[in-house]
Amino acid sequence: SPLHDFLKRLPKCEHHIHLEGALSPALLFKLAKQNSITLPQGDPAFASPDALLSRYKDFTSLDDFLQYYYIGMSALIHSADFEALAWDYFQHASADGVHHAEVFFDPQAHVSRDVSYATVVTGFQAACERAEKELGITTILTACYLRHLPVADSLAMFHHPDVQESYQNGTVKGIGLDSSELNFPPNLFKELYGKASERGLRLTSHAGEEGPVEYIRDALDNLGIERIDHGIRLADDPELMKEVAERQIMLSVCPISNVVLRCVKSVKEVPIRKFLAAGVRFSINSDDPAYFGGYILDNYCAVHEAHDLSIKEWETVCRAGIEGSWCSDKRKGEML
Ligand code: HPA
Ligand code: ZN
Repeated sequence: SPLHDFLKRLPKCEHHIHLEGALSPALLFKLAKQNSITLPQGDPAFASPDALLSRYKDFTSLDDFLQYYYIGMSALIHSADFEALAWDYFQHASADGVHHAEVFFDPQAHVSRDVSYATVVTGFQAACERAEKELGITTILTACYLRHLPVADSLAMFHHPDVQESYQNGTVKGIGLDSSELNFPPNLFKELYGKASERGLRLTSHAGEEGPVEYIRDALDNLGIERIDHGIRLADDPELMKEVAERQIMLSVCPISNVVLRCVKSVKEVPIRKFLAAGVRFSINSDDPAYFGGYILDNYCAVHEAHDLSIKEWETVCRAGIEGSWCSDKRKGEML
């Protein structure tokens, strides 16, 4: 349809994609076989890639998804595996009209199973360089810390010499906070964010996905974040919504993820119109595209179907995404 073509051609920036969440069942099974990794025998979901894909349609919550997400990662061992994974994502992103991608990864989820940080980053970095060269997509790597693990674990990871080096040399430019949200409020990670801020890193955090709007206030006040990942619960507090709009803090909204993980009943329930009316800046993103059955363009189309944005509103959304990116002003100028 003409609108699909219009949405595809818009210069899109993606700000909320976990590279581990781009692991398709096909690639998962292929790498597990190559690396002699045994997938859980007792769970019929791991009988075949098709069975796994069907199970992905029945997620009941963030934690129900996360258990599969962490098992999936167990197939990733070598730098080449991480490169193949990220390259798979960049090809999808390019086909969908992404010009700039800020991508997450979860260092602790790999180091905890004895895959070194250097192995992970080397693979992802190779795919990023290839994406820039062959697809013209600019990229930024952001390391997310896992909020379900002890705070001391995140601090140890942050201070690891290889992690520090990746921050120093600019391979990794930001930090985020992800995994189980409920009962893990942002303020637990205040020290981590303070240290990251001192290093001049960009700061974002998941907040207000499954957790309440109070976690958004918490993350803004205690972590000093300049962006909010998800943030759909912001609409529950009009005063805070006004403040976020005034401070031009961008939300990275993931509509299909919100439906699949049952944070909302349908994309209609994602407060897109409230954000537009309040002047809250947001981008539209895929989160974990291989698990949630949609890449970025599917998310744009779902938002259009549910909220019927005008061409002008779509241009506003896209401009907010470019301006809210962490790339150079020069790069923003090329996309605007
Ligand atoms: N929320 C929290 N943690 C995550 C997500 C998410 O949507 N995806 C991958 N890790
Ligand atoms: Zn996420």
